[in-house]
Amino acid sequence: MGLPISIVWALAVVPASSAFADSEPTELINQQHCMFCHTVDQPFLAPSFRQIADRYRDKPHAAELLERKLRLGGKAHWGDMAMPPASERGGPLSPQDARTLVDWVLSR
Ligand code: HEC
Repeated sequence: MGLPISIVWALAVVPASSAFADSEPTELINQQHCMFCHTVDQPFLAPSFRQIADRYRDKPHAAELLERKLRLGGKAHWGDMAMPPASERGGPLSPQDARTLVDWVLSR
């Protein structure tokens, strides 16, 4: 079963480094102005992404729920302010892009 060690290294190292570069979907975050209201670790106008991740990490269907939320906006249980829908934050957000953002938030 022996793969040459150099190939094993290439397989192990290349995805790891590109995953690092991609780990934050920066363009989507900028385009949707997420950081206008959220930060990763300080509650601000909106709950921090870490609070959100802590709350939803072990919930079944959290990703589906939050994906809808990112596209349609709305208010859940964090306070009086609702999150605006994607169209008011910078433009329509596809389900795939919403999922990318949700995965990012939940991994904080
Ligand atoms: C205009 C301010 C604003 C912007 C911009 C914004 N949010 Fe929010 N977000 C909020 C507020 C306020 C809440 C809390 C509302 C609630 O769920 O009760 C919230 C809640 C959330 C939640 C938790 C939802 C829930 O149902 O518990 C997630 C996840 C989230 N935001 C992600 C994002 C992401 C990702 C972006 C960028 C695509 C973004 N937000 C942009 C204001 C904003």
